[in-house]
Amino acid sequence: MTTATQVLERCAHLDRYSSDPRVLTRVHLSPEHRFANDRTAMWMQQAGLTTWQDAAGNQWGRREGATAGLPALVLGSHLDTVPDAGSFDGMLGVVMAIAVAERLRHVALPFALEVVGFSDEEGTRFGKALLGSQAVAGLWDEDWWALRDRSGTTLLTAFEEFGLDPRRVGEAVRRPDELVGYLEAHIEQGPRLEAADEALGFVTSIAGARRFRIAVLGEARHAGGTPYPRRRDALVGAGEVVVAIERLARESRCLATVGRLEVQPGAVNVIPGRVDLSLDLRAETDAERDAMWETIHAELTSICEGRRLRAEVVETHVAASACCAPWLQDAVVAGIRATGHDAPSGLWSPAGHDAMAMAEVTDIGMLFLRCHDGISHHPDENVLEDDVAVGLDAFEQTVLAVARAEA
Ligand code: GLV
Ligand code: MN
Ligand code: MN
Repeated sequence: MTTATQVLERCAHLDRYSSDPRVLTRVHLSPEHRFANDRTAMWMQQAGLTTWQDAAGNQWGRREGATAGLPALVLGSHLDTVPDAGSFDGMLGVVMAIAVAERLRHVALPFALEVVGFSDEEGTRFGKALLGSQAVAGLWDEDWWALRDRSGTTLLTAFEEFGLDPRRVGEAVRRPDELVGYLEAHIEQGPRLEAADEALGFVTSIAGARRFRIAVLGEARHAGGTPYPRRRDALVGAGEVVVAIERLARESRCLATVGRLEVQPGAVNVIPGRVDLSLDLRAETDAERDAMWETIHAELTSICEGRRLRAEVVETHVAASACCAPWLQDAVVAGIRATGHDAPSGLWSPAGHDAMAMAEVTDIGMLFLRCHDGISHHPDENVLEDDVAVGLDAFEQTVLAVARAEA
């Protein structure tokens, strides 16, 4: 039986598949993605699953239920990372899912059991999150083929270089009638469970997100020869925008983050003529998130007008908020209760998850594990072995609760 120790060893093993030997960075359709898929497939096979990589680069495994061909309960998460990542965001959910499949290997279930390691949740390479799970949910958009990574490679070319046929991406789609539901175990990526001194929690809903690329356009000119009244400094304007975004979000129930800023021409003696900034916007409800964007957009326009600058906005990502299905919330609660914790906390997730995309085709449920100091998207991400042990028990019991509900 796969233990918590082995689960953590597997997460550590996946750290090896990184484009940078000093830190963990594994992006969509990279050689490291291939290695991670191959290793994950091997673990899946050891757990008695039949494996395949789908037409969007997601790694799958399946065992049949009481009879062959039944709809599947899917357990999974993602195998890609942010730059300089921790070892657990995504990967823990995949290796826990494999461990649960192994534990239930000889248990007859009224559904097939599948495990998936999604290929792209973070959007690190192409700036577009959830590419793997959106392909599965039938949400693929033909415009995405033209997305480029930082070296100019298009998503289309990256598919071909990985050995995937872009014309066949539709074959990754799963239909609602093939699925019983989707369950994801994930570190919380925030401090609430730790503050409550609880190892596990169940997720009620996942935040709606929107991402934008905002260009603030001014005029590049000589840093010595241009008096202040004649300057149209894009960076000073962008700085004001960044501070305004934080102020507006803090006054609301939304979270807004500028994570990337690129200054052109980027010379010490030239007034910045252009700044490109990213904006990541989240809220518990789509209405709150959209209202926040309207407010930010109005402030952006006003700041630019006041400084004789211009703003151009491109929306790069939108994901609707997703509710966990009440019956799967009940199953996760039953799973946690079976470990001796009678009153687990229900949390909404400000972080995005593949479950959001899967909610388009099937019911979803999520189990959260406490993580050290709430840290995530950072190499210090950590989880206690004891929490993984109780998490494995709870995840296994959750699947059995779904089996009882389906019987
Ligand atoms: C994914 O981790 C996200 O929430 O951005
Ligand atoms: Mn993440
Ligand atoms: Mn994640």
